[in-house]
Amino acid sequence: MATIRYGDDAFELTQDESVLDGLTRRGISIPSGCRSGICQTCMMRALHGIPPAAAQQDLTGHQRQQGCFLSCICYPQHSMLVALPDDAHARLSATVARVERLNADIMQVTLHCQADLRYRPGQFINLHRNETLSRSYSLASVPELDDGLHLHVKRIAHGKVSAWVHEELEPGQQIEIQGAMGDCYYTPDDKHQALLLVGTGSGLAPLYGIVRDALHQGHRGEIRLYHGSRGIGGLYLLDELRALQEQYANFSYFPCLSQQTLSGFRSGRAHDLALADQPDLKSWKVFLCGHPDMVNSARKKSFLAGAAFQDIHADAFVVAQ
Ligand code: FES
Repeated sequence: MATIRYGDDAFELTQDESVLDGLTRRGISIPSGCRSGICQTCMMRALHGIPPAAAQQDLTGHQRQQGCFLSCICYPQHSMLVALPDDAHARLSATVARVERLNADIMQVTLHCQADLRYRPGQFINLHRNETLSRSYSLASVPELDDGLHLHVKRIAHGKVSAWVHEELEPGQQIEIQGAMGDCYYTPDDKHQALLLVGTGSGLAPLYGIVRDALHQGHRGEIRLYHGSRGIGGLYLLDELRALQEQYANFSYFPCLSQQTLSGFRSGRAHDLALADQPDLKSWKVFLCGHPDMVNSARKKSFLAGAAFQDIHADAFVVAQ
């Protein structure tokens, strides 16, 4: 078993125990969020020993060179001396500017970051409730169009951060964020490429940012957005998206209901309808955001429909309480 040394403490990991779980078992509090290698909140640094490649695969070359790794998915075979990174993801202060309801379950939070946060719509940031509790939220705002960072926060049953946002967060409050991270965003390398965007629930957040970013940057190719929910109450930003559809001839918006039939709405699951409407995705770029089951299924079907692997950008929302 690998020995982990942290500060003055040294202990052996048990079978199938991650570095994060081992430190938690020892009563050492390390910031964490998703616990599945996505949010990067649990990043640590190896001062001695080499982290397993799997714990470094989504990090930048610079971070890997520094010995950084994600402790929640780090299962080392050899001993390591570990520490918190000095500045791999520095926390930034932000002020809550607005908290607005988008539908019964989703709040839009607008933040003013006190440092100059460079980001693209569709990337995500970590929102910290306290020293050790954080969750990741995608950016729906476009820096060139919007005042502040916009997050769509869905209330999760027993969610420690989403309940705090829905019940306690107020304008003027100071909080901490980290980011921006992720590669689910628009790049203007081919402005004639067709774009297909499929999302469920608050998975609309990154897609709303990406669509407006692409249109703002003068994208010429077709852009088709499918947003799905079980019933009408789960959709939001309907008026804004219909207005965009009126304004831009190359943008089409399809609100989809899987358990309700209403005129003006497509009936069925968003990804099924999107793939049925576009059976040939050769040369399309695809963005998928929302529940992991939908994202995984749609990713496979998009690939089978001809989309190139590097043209499928997926952001599966990990539901953490
Ligand atoms: S990546 Fe480890 S807690 Fe999210």
